[in-house]
Amino acid sequence: GRSMMGGNSSGRARRNSDEAVPLKTANTAPKKLAVPPILKPTKTKGDAVYYTLKAKQASTTFKPGVKTQTMGYNGSYLGPTIRVKRGQTVHTKVVNQLNQRTSLHWHGALIPGKADGGPLEPIAAGKTKQTTFKVDQQAATLWYHPHAMGTTASQVYHGLAGFMLVDDQNSQKLKLPKKYGVDDFPVVVQDRTFSRSGQFSYQADYNADGTEGNTLLVNGTLNPYINVKTNQVRLRLLNGSNARTYHFTLNHGATMRQIATDGGFLNHPVKMSRIDLAPGQRAEVVVNTAGVSAKTLALRTNGQRVLQLRLNQKRTGRTTLPKTLNHLTPTGRLNQFGLKHQTIRFSGMGRMVRINDRVYNPNRIDLTAKPHSNQIWTLTNNDSMMGGMDHPFHIHGAQFRILSINGKRPSATQSGLMDVVNLKPDQKVRVLISFHDRGIFVYHCHNLEHEENGMMGQVKVE
Ligand code: C2O
Ligand code: CU
Repeated sequence: GRSMMGGNSSGRARRNSDEAVPLKTANTAPKKLAVPPILKPTKTKGDAVYYTLKAKQASTTFKPGVKTQTMGYNGSYLGPTIRVKRGQTVHTKVVNQLNQRTSLHWHGALIPGKADGGPLEPIAAGKTKQTTFKVDQQAATLWYHPHAMGTTASQVYHGLAGFMLVDDQNSQKLKLPKKYGVDDFPVVVQDRTFSRSGQFSYQADYNADGTEGNTLLVNGTLNPYINVKTNQVRLRLLNGSNARTYHFTLNHGATMRQIATDGGFLNHPVKMSRIDLAPGQRAEVVVNTAGVSAKTLALRTNGQRVLQLRLNQKRTGRTTLPKTLNHLTPTGRLNQFGLKHQTIRFSGMGRMVRINDRVYNPNRIDLTAKPHSNQIWTLTNNDSMMGGMDHPFHIHGAQFRILSINGKRPSATQSGLMDVVNLKPDQKVRVLISFHDRGIFVYHCHNLEHEENGMMGQVKVE
């Protein structure tokens, strides 16, 4: 096996994060997909909502008769879905009941640095942290997960993650499937390895270039299915894996229309035969089952079934989608005049990963920006010495638009609001980043082991 220190010990460059550990078929009976409950506020007062999340050690039964040691928020694996509206003020209380430090980061949220929950905001074992932020962004599928230095990757692997869904007037008005758990499903896809005794073997499977598992868990369910009673079903796909990239497809020629990226709706639904998601990325899709005569459909990735859709004989409801979902400025028309430029170079592998030749230092500010300003960042991934591999770039407290990939215009689905973009070896991606609130925010590789190895920098927005 691989050693803790050596990581990918063969010494050969890994060009592609899909190759390291092949996925295998679940050998358990299909089980109904678990849908995380919507978290009830402990208190509501006008536009103010109060939530409590408790991170704790627990055990979960994934395989019949086997208890796996896990971590969860308020439950035993993953966390509840937090559903907020634009304009609300969210008061959060995070209780760390673990025996190690943690933090709680709101991935994709446009909030002040103090509330962001990144590596500068750790919560010691046994401690509680309260933060407040205003929801000041459009409807989107966001998520939350720990982000303390040294414990992020293993805590996420053990189950600390959850959805935060933002609604606004547009999302409430649009004629889209929106009955949570009925025709609108959160779908977090993760890869895990179970040891012979049924435990997650994070330590044994650790890979400094990204820990992968051989078994898919969807919302913590092995081999899941959903019952589909409507013509259209909306899936909010989240790649919640430490390092694996997914390539989602449907069988039986069913159509999948992408309606949203990380940060919100696309301008128009886009028909997709395949959706690639790197760690941390989201895509909302609507599957139209109207013309499908088969009894089941399968959402698939990397040669395996992710989710089975069991189609009710009599399916009802709308079969069309709104033509217009959003009004984002087309990327070709974004005003780039007079903007500050930065070049961000990802390089290295394993324990030698770097951004602009530096390792993360919490006491160092790498870049600066003004609140509510735009900058153009050129993201590169080339390292002729070490071969190279994918590095999913992510930035906190901001959303960005892709201007070009290797000099070419982004596709329609690459033109949405993003907070993660996968940098393949030798790619150069130019993005227009819109900073929002003040504070110190990190940007990093969302391969969680690379992040922990220091592939992270800090931008001070002030
Ligand atoms: Cu999803 Cu810095 O995080
Ligand atoms: Cu990386």
